[in-house]
Amino acid sequence: MVDFTRRRQGRKTLTSGLERASRGPECFPSLSPLALRVQVRTASSEADPRRSPRTRTFAMHQTRNTLSANIRAESVDLLNKHLASAIDLHGQLKQAHWNVRGPNFIALHGLFDKCAAEAETYSDLLAERARGLGGEAEGTVQRAAQFSGLLAYPLGVADGQEHVFAVSGALAAFGESAREAIDRAARLGDADTADLFTEISRNVDQQLWLVESHGAPQ
Ligand SMILES: [Fe+2]
Repeated sequence: MVDFTRRRQGRKTLTSGLERASRGPECFPSLSPLALRVQVRTASSEADPRRSPRTRTFAMHQTRNTLSANIRAESVDLLNKHLASAIDLHGQLKQAHWNVRGPNFIALHGLFDKCAAEAETYSDLLAERARGLGGEAEGTVQRAAQFSGLLAYPLGVADGQEHVFAVSGALAAFGESAREAIDRAARLGDADTADLFTEISRNVDQQLWLVESHGAPQ
């Protein structure tokens, strides 16, 4: 005989867990993140030093990493911005993989999927570096939609050359942003994060070369 009492209890436990999770981290006092205020300069305040920089509060976890908390928090911010773009890039490449049609279907279908797999590894590298620095990886699709630096991928595209154009644009934009992040992380004094962005941007350049090689000769 089925024990409906236990089933109901199980559902109640799950529901209360979801309710607790949706109420926020204050419901999990054991995590007790160390709240740290850092000032993050926006692009506009960097261009005009008379403008006061935007500030954001970061919840950082304790770590014995010897980089200062300010450097770690600024690196985490940089990593999370690129995590949002990497998640978006992965979705855009899958969009191309699923929808491409035409005489080069097999080659482009496979190539876009390989590029998507690479983009997924960027997400993992960025997120785990953020965690390693004591920060939180902000890797939800909702965060990606809010903070991705990429242009929206065009819908209603089937032609292979149009997908090559759209994908190469997305890869080029992500690569440019990763190169800027190398310099930013180096200025912060976080050589390891700069190295990670170097690895990513070099890989993006290779993917861009492979995709552009499928384009019509200029
Ligand atoms: Fe597939």
